[in-house]
Amino acid sequence: MLSKEQVLQLLQPLTEKHSGQSLSELQFIRDIMIKENHISLTVVCLSLDEQEQSEIRAFVEQTLTGAGAEGVHIRFREASEHERQTVLGTEEPTDEEVLRKGHAAGMERNELLNSPDVHFIAVASGKGGVGKSTVTVNLAAALARQGKRVGLIDADIYGFSVPDMMGIEEGPAVIDDRIQPVERYGVKVMSMGFFIRENNPVIWRGPMLGKMLRQFFSDVDWGELDYLLLDLPPGTGDVALDVHQMVPQSREIIVTTPHATAAFVAARAGAMALQTDHEILGIVENMSYYLNSNGEKDYVFGRGGGGRLAESLHTSLLAQIPLGAPDNHPSEPDFSPSVYKSSTETGELYNELALQVIKQCEHKEG
Ligand SMILES: Nc1ncnc2c1ncn2[C@@H]1O[C@H](COP(=O)(O)OP(=O)(O)OP(=O)(O)O)[C@@H](O)[C@H]1O
Ligand SMILES: [Mg+2]
Repeated sequence: MLSKEQVLQLLQPLTEKHSGQSLSELQFIRDIMIKENHISLTVVCLSLDEQEQSEIRAFVEQTLTGAGAEGVHIRFREASEHERQTVLGTEEPTDEEVLRKGHAAGMERNELLNSPDVHFIAVASGKGGVGKSTVTVNLAAALARQGKRVGLIDADIYGFSVPDMMGIEEGPAVIDDRIQPVERYGVKVMSMGFFIRENNPVIWRGPMLGKMLRQFFSDVDWGELDYLLLDLPPGTGDVALDVHQMVPQSREIIVTTPHATAAFVAARAGAMALQTDHEILGIVENMSYYLNSNGEKDYVFGRGGGGRLAESLHTSLLAQIPLGAPDNHPSEPDFSPSVYKSSTETGELYNELALQVIKQCEHKEG
């Protein structure tokens, strides 16, 4: 079976056409996943030109199948401003330019949090285990499928789960002192899980947590984003409060199960959002029903919790997601345990959720 290094080596001859530099060396070939001889990867392009893409596709497919791969899946992504500069700004910079660039980088850091163009969405719940992380990763993937540039911060610093759920095995690279988020399904991901080995418990306390989180905004090279999703830890503790304070403009989605108790507890997360002046985009009711073999809905966890919660918070019920794990198989190249494929029934529901979110976030501002 081919290794990632071999894939990069084989694709070495592919060049970026404006500069003639190797795409491998530019780190423009990313997100490489290899499962049982099926390979998937993302190619970063300066512009999304169809002709160029089909040439790259042909080369990658030919080369990798020639080297023994049984299936090849290629995604294309447009370069961020920073990546563009890496390619086009190749001349030796003057001292003045270095200074200016440093200043610009500093600006860029603050700009993520201050940017009026990024829609921040925090996903919260009252109780743990209701599917907050599942909803966050699937909404992120669905927004990316709609062509949005999406980032995801796993702000559950103690209980990070996003890397595993998305099937991410590699850690982030560091370029020019900036952490590169790991890309998966077109989503740029940052998680404490990337920095903790062997699933050891995180023992940092209060101020450290806030600091880590702040670094996820400031020291990570997010590039340009349309959406930044934050998967909050359950409940209304310190981290949730930190996030509310750090990102005052973030809107919020609250996840609950249909059970009355879950919805009652979720109302507290809603109350926290409102007290800290965060707009609630809506409620996602997860594990709403089970579609039985007769195609009927069994309401195994009760019924109506999401609707009542929406009513009490004067917001809308955005989606009802049924029970059922994704039917993904570890042998697939793009495998993840928790991301539903777009073509499945639940995947479709997430597509609709993404469209609603886009409508509320983008059209409101008109
Ligand atoms: N609709 C669903 N059908 C079946 N299983 C689900 C569904 N949604 C989530 N799960 C499973 O339930 C468990 C909890 O989900 P998840 O981790 O997303 O919840 P969470 O609210 O983020 O939990 P935590 O509070 O621990 O952060 C996971 O094992 C997940 O795979
Ligand atoms: Mg979680």
